[in-house]
Amino acid sequence: MHPDSQLDAAYWQQRYLAGQTGWDAGSITPPLLDYFRQLGLPDERRILIPGAGRAYEAEYLHRQGWPNVWVADVAPAPLHDFQQRVPTFPAAHLLQQDFFALEPTPAFDLIVEQTFFCALDPSLRLAYARQCAHLLRPGGTLMGLLFDTEFSQPGPPFGGSREEYRAYFAPYFDFAHFETATNSLPPRRGRELFICLKRKRLPGSY
Ligand SMILES: C[S@@+](CC[C@H](N)C(=O)[O-])C[C@H]1O[C@@H](n2cnc3c(N)ncnc32)[C@H](O)[C@@H]1O
Repeated sequence: MHPDSQLDAAYWQQRYLAGQTGWDAGSITPPLLDYFRQLGLPDERRILIPGAGRAYEAEYLHRQGWPNVWVADVAPAPLHDFQQRVPTFPAAHLLQQDFFALEPTPAFDLIVEQTFFCALDPSLRLAYARQCAHLLRPGGTLMGLLFDTEFSQPGPPFGGSREEYRAYFAPYFDFAHFETATNSLPPRRGRELFICLKRKRLPGSY
């Protein structure tokens, strides 16, 4: 978290308590569902969902039998809601922690992004890309959705463009997919990028 940021745990907790959670789709979204369905059978792959909120993606993966799914969020309320909804999910895999303080012990195979990047102060975008690279094993995957649009209201969410984002991720990732999503939720249609990035294997790289 940015040391000066007003977008701290208290801010997000208050948004949940006040029911101001317009980002919350209420279930797993089609792009993530379609991606997960092609992952094959559940195995030991370590999957991190940061800024997960109520973590419908983690619920889906858990119910499919994936054993190594981890959820991180700074706000306690959505984690509590998740625990009530999915009591069989391992409590130790629910991390009430700052994403930027997470450590790769051990490294993750997959990080899932949905409306977390756009919730961060834009000054943290390069740090986000670097931290994802830090947490992933070489060859590991960062996938999900990024808004490719500007918003008329002050953020969060903070908008941006694919050209801007490319510059943050290019030092650390190879780009497998970086194009307008074809299966977005209707209100987001045409305004979000589907990304699937592979953590570079450069010797001596992060
Ligand atoms: C816009 S919400 C999106 C939640 C969820 N991904 C979804 O799509 O419903 C952003 C989430 O990021 C969390 N968050 C904000 N800053 C964070 C940080 N530095 N580390 C971890 N979580 C953070 C907030 O508490 C909030 O749940």
